[in-house]
Amino acid sequence: MIEIVDLHKSFGDYTVLKGINLSVPAGNTCVILGGSGSGKTVLMKHMIGLLKPDQGQVIIDGEDVVPMGPEDLERMRHKFGMVFQAAALFDSMDVYDNVAFPLREHRGISEEEIQKLVRSKLDLMGLPRASERKFPADLSGGMRKRVGLARAIVMNPKIVLYDEPTTGLDPITTDYVDEMILAAQKELGITSVVISHDIASAFNIADQIAFLSKGVILEQGSPEQVRASKHPAVEIFMQTWFGKND
Ligand SMILES: Nc1ncnc2c1ncn2[C@@H]1O[C@H](COP(=O)(O)OP(=O)(O)O)[C@@H](O)[C@H]1O
Ligand SMILES: [Mg+2]
Repeated sequence: MIEIVDLHKSFGDYTVLKGINLSVPAGNTCVILGGSGSGKTVLMKHMIGLLKPDQGQVIIDGEDVVPMGPEDLERMRHKFGMVFQAAALFDSMDVYDNVAFPLREHRGISEEEIQKLVRSKLDLMGLPRASERKFPADLSGGMRKRVGLARAIVMNPKIVLYDEPTTGLDPITTDYVDEMILAAQKELGITSVVISHDIASAFNIADQIAFLSKGVILEQGSPEQVRASKHPAVEIFMQTWFGKND
């Protein structure tokens, strides 16, 4: 579903991505792990054509997005749902209208159909009917997160990109979000790319982990393969975590 080939990106003379290769099969969840400033968000922005690389290909569902103009990019972006660190809900809209928003923006579909789609996603995220008319300010952090996830998948996207969806959340809410990501993958067959610096979360949800450091993927494979990595920087990252929690 996603194939990144030899991707390079610099800002001025500061090089952020130094030849990234990454392949995510349909229906898989790929977690991109790495410290702050390692280039994770820059890499993700290339996947939806928000940034143009200096060199390389970004093939999404069979099409290279790098040479695309505005119209093709717009069409291609309909394949994506996005979840950012802050839930970014509209404060002036209740839960139902927040989730319905992308449907009303992009498609001429009936309110009846909208209701069916919105409710199916709220159900999938475990949000009770009673929450539909609540406003974001009245929800807990975990509930807001779930509403954000419901909105990201309401258009039935093929791919969902999550940029640090659990950063700043308490452990219980983090587990909830992980479960929601897995539910979206299982129920809807969604291909997911999750940026994280939370190893526990990565090991919970990943089919595949790519470990990014200073613009290079140092290690890539199943969670077990990455955990057994002999690369010094990856070993240190793993030891910090597993040492602390054993
Ligand atoms: N538009 C930009 N212009 C210049 N530098 C940028 C830009 N976007 C990101 N960077 C730099 O690229 C590096 C990687 O950033 P980013 O991908 O956001 O890191 P992270 O892995 O924390 O998500 C950082 O040093 C950041 O300052
Ligand atoms: Mg980032």
